[in-house]
Amino acid sequence: MGYQTIEVRKISPVIGAEIHGVDLGGELGNQQFQEIHDALMDNLVIFFRDQKLSVEQHKAFGQRFGRLHLHPNAPRPIEGHPEILVIKADENSKHVAGEEWHTDVSCDEEPPMGSILYLTEVPPDGGGDTMFANTYRAYETLSEPVKKMLVGLTAIHDSLKAHSHQQNKKDGAHHFPKAEHPILRTHPVTGKIGLYVNRGFTTRIPQLKKAESDAVLEMLWRHIETPELQCRFKWRPNSVAFWDNRCAQHHALFDYHPHRRYGHRVTVCGDKPFYGAA
Ligand code: SIN
Repeated sequence: MGYQTIEVRKISPVIGAEIHGVDLGGELGNQQFQEIHDALMDNLVIFFRDQKLSVEQHKAFGQRFGRLHLHPNAPRPIEGHPEILVIKADENSKHVAGEEWHTDVSCDEEPPMGSILYLTEVPPDGGGDTMFANTYRAYETLSEPVKKMLVGLTAIHDSLKAHSHQQNKKDGAHHFPKAEHPILRTHPVTGKIGLYVNRGFTTRIPQLKKAESDAVLEMLWRHIETPELQCRFKWRPNSVAFWDNRCAQHHALFDYHPHRRYGHRVTVCGDKPFYGAA
């Protein structure tokens, strides 16, 4: 793919590229916007360094890609900006968001297409990297009999599995969606097929007996988690990662306690997963 307004440097052969030559806080022309979009489709997750983004600029960049998503049960600490999800860890943290392999909010009927995370503080001695896995490649590297078995199967994605620590907050401000999606997901833009089950949210394949469902899910999760399908992003302050939740999973490493890591995420709405002709 030829790019005229950005420079795209892959960070692994399988997934992930750094994008250079863009100020995300500025006005993006249509061509540059289109090239960033194409780089995301080609690389599944793209990274930007040395960005300075106000909350408004961060939201405006996300809105170029679609409506912004409101998380069903995460706190909304920034007044007037409920679309901003705060990603924060410090000496009091026992867990961090996204510690399990997942795609964001797959428990929604229409899960987000993508997420844009901007970190301004990172641990001083390294750590806090984010891992990303290519779920097209995960599908493509299954054996043919397993691919055939998965056609027509669905899986349940349950918010309570991922967000059980919020369970005592079943009130008007928090709700805990559950959705059923095909295990093989066709990407609505590229038309490619990816595996769409994740350890963070997926609980059950309803067409199978419980023991069968547990075994098949565990096999698929482990397969997605093989290192050859992944890249690992090392954050610096003011880096941005933009991932496509329809074809990539991610996993935030929590290896830096008691240090601080802080940033904001905006999440772009998506559409209902399907399998078949795009
Ligand atoms: C997330 O959005 O799942 C968190 C990712 C991270 O903190 O690296």
